[in-house]
Amino acid sequence: MIALACDHGGFRLMQEVKEYLNEQGLPYKDFGVDSDESCDYPAIAYPAAKAIADGECGKGIFICGTGIGISIAANKVRGIRAAVCGDTFSAEMTRRHNDANVLAIGARVTGPGLALKIIEIFLKTEFESGRHARRVELISELEARW
Ligand code: RB5
Repeated sequence: MIALACDHGGFRLMQEVKEYLNEQGLPYKDFGVDSDESCDYPAIAYPAAKAIADGECGKGIFICGTGIGISIAANKVRGIRAAVCGDTFSAEMTRRHNDANVLAIGARVTGPGLALKIIEIFLKTEFESGRHARRVELISELEARW
């Protein structure tokens, strides 16, 4: 199950993402927003990030204007590894090396065609584990210190 979250800046792109996921038969849970009315991205990011941290959803696609604000907010939730990606190489590597569980996209930065390709790669790429598992574990240890 994929958690979807966006603010007003990401609303339009998110409609295309939902269409893409429907076409692919990929299930998602939509945490909003459902209009392009101005809103605050931390409030939208939190319940979606929590659903991933709680195990209700496996991954997330979060969209705001730049992808930055919503990823910063998501990364405050323990267990979330959100990565802003504007290219396919980063999307592949953040899955292979960081086991990122949230893909953040900037709708004002990345066009819809590239965004969908980034999503495709993010969703299909597996974590490599091995030496990267130790590093991801160290990230979890940093979280546990606070
Ligand atoms: C909203 O105007 C904008 O600040 C937001 O979508 C995002 O880009 C923040 O990082």
